[in-house]
Amino acid sequence: MSKRRNSIEIPSLKAIDRTADVGRQLAQALRSAISRAELRPGERLPSTRTLAASLKIARGTVVGVFDQLTAEGYLEARVGAGTSVASALVDATPPLPPAQAAPPGADAFDLPSPATRLISIARALTPHPPIPFAIAVPAAGIAPDDNWRRLGNRVRASKQAAPASYQNPMGLHELRVAIADHVRRARAVHCEPEQVIVTSGTQQGLYLAGRVLLSRDDPVWTEDPAYPGLTAVLDDLGAQTHRIPVDAQGMNVERGLELCPQARAAFVTPSHQYPVGMPLSMARRNALIAWADQNRAWIVEDDYDSELRYAGHPFPSMQGLRPSRVIYLGTFSKVLFPSLRLGYVIAPAALTEAFAGARAILDRHSPTAEQHVLAAYIREGYFEAHIRRIRGLYAERRAILLSSLEQSLPEGCRIQPSDQGMHILLWLPEGTDDVQLAAQALSAGLAVRAISPMYAARPARPGLMLGFGGFLPDRLQAAVGELVKLLNLQIFGGGGERRG
Ligand SMILES: Cc1ncc(COP(=O)(O)O)c(C=O)c1O
Repeated sequence: MSKRRNSIEIPSLKAIDRTADVGRQLAQALRSAISRAELRPGERLPSTRTLAASLKIARGTVVGVFDQLTAEGYLEARVGAGTSVASALVDATPPLPPAQAAPPGADAFDLPSPATRLISIARALTPHPPIPFAIAVPAAGIAPDDNWRRLGNRVRASKQAAPASYQNPMGLHELRVAIADHVRRARAVHCEPEQVIVTSGTQQGLYLAGRVLLSRDDPVWTEDPAYPGLTAVLDDLGAQTHRIPVDAQGMNVERGLELCPQARAAFVTPSHQYPVGMPLSMARRNALIAWADQNRAWIVEDDYDSELRYAGHPFPSMQGLRPSRVIYLGTFSKVLFPSLRLGYVIAPAALTEAFAGARAILDRHSPTAEQHVLAAYIREGYFEAHIRRIRGLYAERRAILLSSLEQSLPEGCRIQPSDQGMHILLWLPEGTDDVQLAAQALSAGLAVRAISPMYAARPARPGLMLGFGGFLPDRLQAAVGELVKLLNLQIFGGGGERRG
């Protein structure tokens, strides 16, 4: 039996705040000391009288804490032998990992492996602040606009905003009708309101589609490079992802057929390949549909940027070409604002209830009040007027960004041709560290996304995504000046070899 001690050397005990709940603090300090093996199984504690005197607290408080921890199994009291750390804890107390081996963000214990994986996802998907060239930032003062605010006040003042019961996981009927009307007209989508499932954005649409279509280890195609929010979803679901290279016509379907013809689904961005920007050619669209028909596979069409095309009319959706095989995903994040958290899935009729089930177990449904506001905004014609307005405004900002870049870009940098969306892609000379450049840019007040981490293939091509929608022309021009300085430093070590 170990000798009884006259005090306990636990650093946190010295920090006890005698003006707060001393008993709770003492109990917590003892629990942590036992978990961290600072107090070992079998070790005898000082008597309650001695400990109370050394901590300058009432003896009754210490007695209460010892009783509590004995009841919790941390301590054991033996007649005539005082109180010790429970010996049964001997097997349950794991050795502490060395401090340097702790995974990032871990406290004093090993994290479960899903937690470690999800920490990396949280870091990869951290949103940028609204500084140039952040991507999904709407033009200030344009969205939400006064009509949005007025409709919001009207909806919130009415009873419909706060129904007393859970609602349909597929979403508010009026909004589903408004979305079906909009996508039929604007995107040539073939659908009825019953096929529309309101989501909290395309990110959730991707997750729901993965849940509905794929079992663990099912093979699936995605583009290379691809949207990191998609690859994270597929990894999380345990799918066997085949990255299909993208060329000037978009996803190379022939390559997909060579790599894994039996894939269960293909996730694509046909209107505006993410992040490169080209549309999927008509020949490739037909090849993809033929593959899906033949293999009873599914196509998940992420149509994230499609309303914003600056030359001619937007490409019609793939869903319109084969409604029975395509799951169409749309979002209000780009054309309205991303914090709205509303988007939609349009699914073949046979799958809609499965989407409702997947949604119900996730979070049941989106907030009803916001759905009413959006339904009214679309129904009363403000949404289409808003799209026309931002298309003009963003075209102007985009042209200013392109011309500023063209005048000052260092040798070896190249702008990817594209006529759509809220960002442009700048290719950097081979060997440039775009990740380091993006980190330096953030410290200099610029939010650019590095392209190379979006590739599975190695060596990945370096580049930067530059968003322009949310920034006035003079701010964009000043930001280009800053970016070019950083590019010169990174590429030429400050030599400043400029084009033109
Ligand atoms: C290609 C792509 N898909 C999906 C999303 C997710 O959008 P949402 O805000 O609707 O979740 C984004 C957002 O940037 C995106 O770029």
